[in-house]
Amino acid sequence: VAKRKLNKKAVRSKAVKSKGGKPPVTPQRITEMAWGFAPMLMLQAAIKNGVFDVLSAGPKTFDEIVAGTQCSRRGIVALVEALVGFGLLNRRKDRFGLAPDAAAFMVSSKPGYLGGLVKHFAAQLLDNWRQLPEVVRTGKPATMVDHEDQGAEFFSKFVEDLFNMSFPAAEALAEELAKKPAAHDGRFKILDIAAGSGVWSIPLAKRMTDAHITAVDFAKVLPVTRSVAERHQLGDRLSTIEGDIQSVDFGGGFHVATLGHILHSEGEAKSRRLLKKVYDALAPGGVIAIAEFIPDDDRNGPPYPLLFAVNMLVNTEDGDTFSFKQMSGWLKEIGFKRIRKVEVPSPSPIIVAVKA
Ligand SMILES: C[S@@+](CC[C@H](N)C(=O)[O-])C[C@H]1O[C@@H](n2cnc3c(N)ncnc32)[C@H](O)[C@@H]1O
Repeated sequence: VAKRKLNKKAVRSKAVKSKGGKPPVTPQRITEMAWGFAPMLMLQAAIKNGVFDVLSAGPKTFDEIVAGTQCSRRGIVALVEALVGFGLLNRRKDRFGLAPDAAAFMVSSKPGYLGGLVKHFAAQLLDNWRQLPEVVRTGKPATMVDHEDQGAEFFSKFVEDLFNMSFPAAEALAEELAKKPAAHDGRFKILDIAAGSGVWSIPLAKRMTDAHITAVDFAKVLPVTRSVAERHQLGDRLSTIEGDIQSVDFGGGFHVATLGHILHSEGEAKSRRLLKKVYDALAPGGVIAIAEFIPDDDRNGPPYPLLFAVNMLVNTEDGDTFSFKQMSGWLKEIGFKRIRKVEVPSPSPIIVAVKA
């Protein structure tokens, strides 16, 4: 009798779990989304208090982490255990160590360090995103970083942090572009539009020893471009044009033009105008390379390029993210040929096209 009762109970709970063979409906995804703010702020707290740096020398106990960070024991226990829960740290007996991604990207002395980016998200982006309900209602952004008066200060603070994020992809692109460079005599001219740290032009200029970079950006950001170029021994191969990319004169005869993460903040109309201006500035056979967060053509995913479109809604006058179909259509209309995707180690491929 007891067995029959148990079986009945099992059948009943199964019915609750999967009605009609469909997976059960639970609030799990929604509660996880509602907690979405917390992992970023835990990362920020760990970075700011040096938790990852302290652990970079090897696994440590709670007491050793407390001593190394000068934080409270209560704070370290809670934060470290939560980071174990998220897999960024691991526990071996009474010691805590870094998971491979934490070791590669969260330790400030590592070349791939992304702590600056996390700090930027937590400090600069979060406040603007808190205004999202109002932004959605009115269609008006919280700020307009595409305008020099609001964007120059914003970008000067974090473009250098973007360098590490995009460097592996920029290296792969440089390798691809250097295989068959456009014909040139003595001077290979690279136009880096909205250059920021110069991440998209620097790896290419290091491969092409006769290359010269012309970087365009706001006046407040160009000193960052210069200091990064100097760190890469390219100071004497860099010229700068300061001002709004829509209005400054780029000059002409460029063999490569890079547009790294700029079309999304310009929006469709200004992006199309900019692409035409780039076409005119390229030499015949010159190549345009566009780095963007690219949603699928049907715009049903992946989630991050679509989330980034919301980021543009919050932070720019008319920004958005664009599919390959949209961007390749614009390029084609302008006259670009051989439009293709170059796979690189980043969430989206780079779009490359040639001026015939
Ligand atoms: C997202 S950052 C990208 C920087 C760099 N290309 C990269 O991929 O890391 C955008 C850059 O564009 C610059 N920018 C944005 N709008 C601009 C405009 N209208 N005129 C000139 N520069 C602009 C910003 O100052 C910033 O350096």
